[in-house]
Amino acid sequence: MSSIAFIGGGNMASCIIGGMVANGFDPQKILVGTPSDNTRQRLASSFGVKTFADNHAAVADADVVVLAVKPKMMREVVESLAPALSHQPIIISVAAGIPVAALEQWLDGSMAIVRAMPNTPSMVQSGATGLYTRATLPLEHRQLVDSMFEAIGYICWVEEEALIDAVIAVSGSGPAYFFLVLEAMQKIAQELGLPKQTAEGLCLHTALGASRMAIESGVTAADLRKQVTSPGGTTQAAINSFQQQGLEDMFRQAMTSAVDRAQTMSKDFSS
Ligand SMILES: NC(=O)c1ccc[n+]([C@@H]2O[C@H](COP(=O)([O-])OP(=O)(O)OC[C@H]3O[C@@H](n4cnc5c(N)ncnc54)[C@H](OP(=O)(O)O)[C@@H]3O)[C@@H](O)[C@H]2O)c1
Repeated sequence: MSSIAFIGGGNMASCIIGGMVANGFDPQKILVGTPSDNTRQRLASSFGVKTFADNHAAVADADVVVLAVKPKMMREVVESLAPALSHQPIIISVAAGIPVAALEQWLDGSMAIVRAMPNTPSMVQSGATGLYTRATLPLEHRQLVDSMFEAIGYICWVEEEALIDAVIAVSGSGPAYFFLVLEAMQKIAQELGLPKQTAEGLCLHTALGASRMAIESGVTAADLRKQVTSPGGTTQAAINSFQQQGLEDMFRQAMTSAVDRAQTMSKDFSS
């Protein structure tokens, strides 16, 4: 089995490691370089992985290196790691907004680089991850990367790096859009007279049920909506109100703003 080193043992690394271990990856083949004693102890006791204070020791024999530090730390961490990567492992960066070209420059080499954009529901193994590489990965390497991220949820590959910015606007920021809708529905459910706990339970389970139905039925969201919208009924009254107030345009503007922000962040790291 391949050995996989994580540089940075924080929230996202913990999610991926937790999912991998739950899906049968050998924890002794997972190596984590991270500076704090507390983080190393937590990872070793929660998952049984090997931990290192020295990043070079963590990556020495790794087939895959996952860069999971904050974007602002990435340049410093990657440049100091580069001399320990002469064995050319696959590099996976989960950092938002750092383009492949910047990583190539900091690594000073010709390693296969994958960008991965997971999201926070990865914490409950219900994430959605967009992946991009311009390297030609051998099939077994591609399958290894797939299995790492499938361990935390749904995955998809995009063909162009620019589309990672769209992934950020859709699934990276997307959980917050649904939280915002839930927040509004829960508040209004209480205004309509339901007790707080009932309002929260109804809204949460409606969101879960709608999502499961859309995933499991294979029917499009548009068709499911039409199926539950009887002419002249209550749902139609609500949907008409959303549409008259320009719901789709509101989402278009919001998600385009997220793409614009992701592009600006990428440019900052490219300069
Ligand atoms: N959280 C998300 O939902 C999410 C989603 C998509 C992408 N990402 C990306 O994931 C990356 C990590 O985010 P996060 O949320 O996991 O952040 P985080 O919880 O703050 O974790 C960052 C980790 O980096 C470690 N670190 C700091 N300096 C280091 C160094 N010199 N060498 C090795 N490790 C070092 C810290 O180690 P200690 O704990 O040992 O101090 C910390 O555990 C970011 O680039 C972010 O853009 C996160």
